[in-house]
Amino acid sequence: MAATSEAAPHTGDSVAAAEALEALAAVVSRETDDREELASSLPQGDHDTPLARAVAADARKRIALTGRVFPKPPTTRVLTVANQKGGVGKTTTTVNVAAGLAQAGLTVLVIDIDPQGNASTALGIDHHAEVPSIYDVLVEGTPLADVVQECPDIAGLWCAPATIDLAGAEIELVSLVARETRLQKAIAAYLEQGSAAGRPAPDYVLIDCPPSLGLLTVNAFVAAQEVLIPIQCEYYALEGLSQLLKNIELIRNHLNPTLHVSTILLTMYDGRTRLSAQVADEVRTHFPEQVLRNTVPRSVRISEAPSHGQTVMTYDPNSSGALSYLGAAAELADRGAATTADHQTASAQN
Ligand SMILES: Nc1ncnc2c1ncn2[C@@H]1O[C@H](COP(=O)(O)OP(=O)(O)OP(=O)(O)O)[C@@H](O)[C@H]1O
Ligand SMILES: [Mg+2]
Repeated sequence: MAATSEAAPHTGDSVAAAEALEALAAVVSRETDDREELASSLPQGDHDTPLARAVAADARKRIALTGRVFPKPPTTRVLTVANQKGGVGKTTTTVNVAAGLAQAGLTVLVIDIDPQGNASTALGIDHHAEVPSIYDVLVEGTPLADVVQECPDIAGLWCAPATIDLAGAEIELVSLVARETRLQKAIAAYLEQGSAAGRPAPDYVLIDCPPSLGLLTVNAFVAAQEVLIPIQCEYYALEGLSQLLKNIELIRNHLNPTLHVSTILLTMYDGRTRLSAQVADEVRTHFPEQVLRNTVPRSVRISEAPSHGQTVMTYDPNSSGALSYLGAAAELADRGAATTADHQTASAQN
């Protein structure tokens, strides 16, 4: 079992191993071509303390991922990050995966459709009541391009913020025409107008949902092709998941036939508890294709970052949490590229 380096006890051996691995990782330049060779040259040894194992895993990730440019998807991938259970890591996952993708050279738009506005806060985006926001897009029909702001810390990362006005939108949307498809239309117009204006299309659009299955979340499901579900490695994690899957099925049957759960990310994984491992095993058994190999550890650094208006990717890029999110972003990007290559091979063979 792996443990977070923050939680593990320090011993003489493990500290020495940690220091050796840190030193080796530090010499890796961003241009390194021989990542695999270098990662496998790390001492395998008996990392029999949790700290040594965790540090070795982080060092390998850093070598494999730092400075990598992720492959672009052929067309914009729109993912809705959803789970009606509260506090499972939707927002944390949205902003950190988005930051990881953008740091690796892709253009990413985060759409905050949670009235709490947590994603906007974490990205350092101004979202006080008067700021043009996703409320104006959904309720007033304002073009998405008019509300999008660039994230101050990360090039290529953009955000359509949520303000407190959005709290009333669930009710206001009920009486509007085409109430379920308003976000979908706004994104389609944004992409179309962007290409006419010479603005590069985002490679990824990530939509951060509120913890409910109301009209805001329905709009997000209708606008996306893919759902990314963060699952917290806790006892009640799987409760409510079947309800979420039923709702996704309903949307697929009636409003958006392309919608599917492409990705599941296990969050707040605590390697010291058997419960985390059990929840992870159970989720992997049910969803072998969808669950990412990278799990996100419970990490103080991750929870501190938003109070500095930052993602953990800039707040502490070498922490276990940041490396896990970077790993998850890489898997997401690689899977997107692999799926495309499969399609191309299949169509070339037909
Ligand atoms: N891996 C982690 N380690 C430690 N704390 C975490 C981790 N992931 C998220 N948190 C913290 O847990 C809390 C809930 O996370 P987050 O806001 O991302 O969940 P959410 O699903 O978006 O919540 P909501 O349903 O309210 O929108 C936050 O305080 C966040 O900082
Ligand atoms: Mg949230």
